[in-house]
Amino acid sequence: MLDLLKEKYFNEIYSTGFVENDLSLPGEMIDGIRGHYAPKVLGDNDFPKFFAKNEHQAYMESQYIGFMMSNFPNVARKWLKQMYDKQYDTAIYGECACLERVLQYLMDNGFGEFFRARYMIGSYDVYLRSTHNSRATSYHTDLPNFHHFYETENDLSVFVPLVDLNDENGGSITVLPESKLKVPSNVLLKLLYDHFSKDPRYLDKDGYVDPDKIDKAAMQAFGKTKAHQDLLAAHKGVISMALRQYTKDFRKPKEKAGKVLIFSHKNFHAAEPWKNEKMDREVYILRFLPIYDVKIKLTRHLHGRPVNNFLLDMKEGTVTRFDGPVDMAKIAEGEKLRI
Ligand SMILES: [Fe+2]
Repeated sequence: MLDLLKEKYFNEIYSTGFVENDLSLPGEMIDGIRGHYAPKVLGDNDFPKFFAKNEHQAYMESQYIGFMMSNFPNVARKWLKQMYDKQYDTAIYGECACLERVLQYLMDNGFGEFFRARYMIGSYDVYLRSTHNSRATSYHTDLPNFHHFYETENDLSVFVPLVDLNDENGGSITVLPESKLKVPSNVLLKLLYDHFSKDPRYLDKDGYVDPDKIDKAAMQAFGKTKAHQDLLAAHKGVISMALRQYTKDFRKPKEKAGKVLIFSHKNFHAAEPWKNEKMDREVYILRFLPIYDVKIKLTRHLHGRPVNNFLLDMKEGTVTRFDGPVDMAKIAEGEKLRI
């Protein structure tokens, strides 16, 4: 994170969990985002989709879910859908209809000033909606999963409430600062590269591992390797320490509709219950990836939707949209972070 953000902002996010700032999306942009998602069917929920191809992730949640996912996937899928429907009425990943406008607004209004790194990938967006009947989201970290493939411990999120999150309404997020405890995951990129770069079937012409060439069986075989199992065990250990020792150290930022909050969803985080019966909690999240010097390409799709196709140049203050994912091989080596 130190080579990603300028020192002042690194210190802030490291010690408090957030970069709080004066950036705010204008009211008409908030209305536009809410308007876009308003016609979506309540109950559209992408969360359970992450468990397919990620049975190991299910095991992290609990032995029981993992067992069900491996042995009775159809029953488990229905059950997971019910479980996540209780948490969010709507959770839409990677629609990206509003993403370019919001990225452009952020860059036009000083978003680049926070960064020491030259580039970030604008990966995809997320829309979450929940009611007062929804369950609060308990303490967790968004663990790496094979749908994203390229994931680092320094992935960043811009979190924008579309309605006021405050003491009266509830719904605030809370984050455990990295200075307390965090799950390490950059090493996953090294493990993935070591494993898949040995087989030319998984490489592109530049020698980059191409996740879109890797089938489910090959991914599952990687999941069972000792190296990956060791990483999962490390994750599990850190997660249990966080839940046992650090729940009192979660910090809450000041939030209101439109206010831009920068944090990392790789830090432990949670969301308070929503209390307002008259309106729903709606939040919009943008996901950003740093570019490391590892020869791994970005995936084309997330749950069938195109992702990873925006490049933010912090020096020039520009947002460039590509037809496919940003080509990591075209980024100058000197502008990549050391993994
Ligand atoms: Fe999360």
